[in-house]
Amino acid sequence: MNNFEFKNPTKIIFGKDTIKNLEQEIPKDAKVLLLYGGGSIKKNGIYDQVKKALKDVHVVEFGGIPANPEYAKLMEALNVIKDENITYLLAVGGGSVIDGTKFLSAAALYKGDTPWNILSDNIKTEKGMPFGTVLTLPATGSEMNSGAVITREETKEKLAMGGPGLFPVFSILDPQVVSTIPERQLANGLTDAFTHVLEQYMTYPIGALLQDRFAESIMQTLIEVAPKVMKDPTDYKATSNFMWSCTMALNGLIQKGVPTDWAVHAIGHELTALYGIDHARTLAIIAPSHYKFNFEAKKEKLAQYAERVWNITEGSQEDKAHAAIAKTEAFFHELGIDTKLSDYTKDYKDTAETIYKRFKDRGWNGLGEHQSLTPENVKEIVEMAY
Ligand code: NZQ
Ligand code: ZN
Repeated sequence: MNNFEFKNPTKIIFGKDTIKNLEQEIPKDAKVLLLYGGGSIKKNGIYDQVKKALKDVHVVEFGGIPANPEYAKLMEALNVIKDENITYLLAVGGGSVIDGTKFLSAAALYKGDTPWNILSDNIKTEKGMPFGTVLTLPATGSEMNSGAVITREETKEKLAMGGPGLFPVFSILDPQVVSTIPERQLANGLTDAFTHVLEQYMTYPIGALLQDRFAESIMQTLIEVAPKVMKDPTDYKATSNFMWSCTMALNGLIQKGVPTDWAVHAIGHELTALYGIDHARTLAIIAPSHYKFNFEAKKEKLAQYAERVWNITEGSQEDKAHAAIAKTEAFFHELGIDTKLSDYTKDYKDTAETIYKRFKDRGWNGLGEHQSLTPENVKEIVEMAY
């Protein structure tokens, strides 16, 4: 096992009817900017619960943060923060609203020329404006980690940022919010969380027995609850396990002391930036090709995953490893998620070349757990995913 440090300061408030606890979490003298997305919270009662809990606090609102939070829109919110002397941010939404809020937390205290540099120069945020979240969509784990991904439509870029100053102070996770999530977003959430585990697991054995079993148990749980969540998003037993699995998949715990990959995400972000494909679906497009391309380097863990997660006991190590890739793809298909780029766009022929050039320009020469994946390799992986 590798050496590691682990600190996660986010307070989690989990369970039925917990949104009202906001009242105790936000300082009474705070001037709060309440951030939300396209308006789902106004239809499903979450907005009303939040407003009720904040009735004694000064609250300014900013809505309209789109899926794949957009830089230009967030800059409007930054002006509100400055004009209104906001001291505390509250994200009510899924990964997009939470990530947008993280960007604002960093940008509000940023002293440099333009906040875009936080993304383009990958500046780590040591201290941000404090913020809390009310999670409305289990998927990204953003509610308990310090990362964010921001999109800039103008340049068709989607870049990551983060730093120890960007953990939420608290996050409220009430699984009852899942009941109004559309099928497409439920499938996305399951796929995104599942792939988060894969990115931190599908590397090479390093003797981290506990981390492996944490990872396997999250995947097993997601596989078990997926059909139940899809069939009935009011099934509390299923949705509470779904929600907690998504948080645990990317709150830092399972990646401690182990090698991580993250190439599927790096490539996937380009597909969202270029074609607007939902984040989770880009992962389902890239992951199977990525594992096939890097088969030799990953076959031991692929075979372990085959045995422990998919109960594949027949055949050689290689047979099991191949079967595991097929099972993973079939799992995505069962969720209604297509796994080829050509299923999403007719315009895909230059994609591999475009991504190759972008990675080359950015100097991304060593992706993956061995830092050995070149832009040329990435090009091949994307071509395999056509
Ligand atoms: O905008 P509204 O109207 O609220 O509707 C949203 C949105 O259209 C809707 N929704 C959310 N909760 C709902 C609901 N509809 C009905 N009932 C509810 N309770 O769902 C739609 C999608 O929301 P979004 O926040 O975009 O989804 P998700 O949570 O999947 O977030 C995706 C974003 O997170 C980034 C992705 O790149 C993408 O930009 N990621 C962030 C990560 C992180 N910070 O750690 C890691 C991930 O790998 C990912 O990259
Ligand atoms: Zn993801």
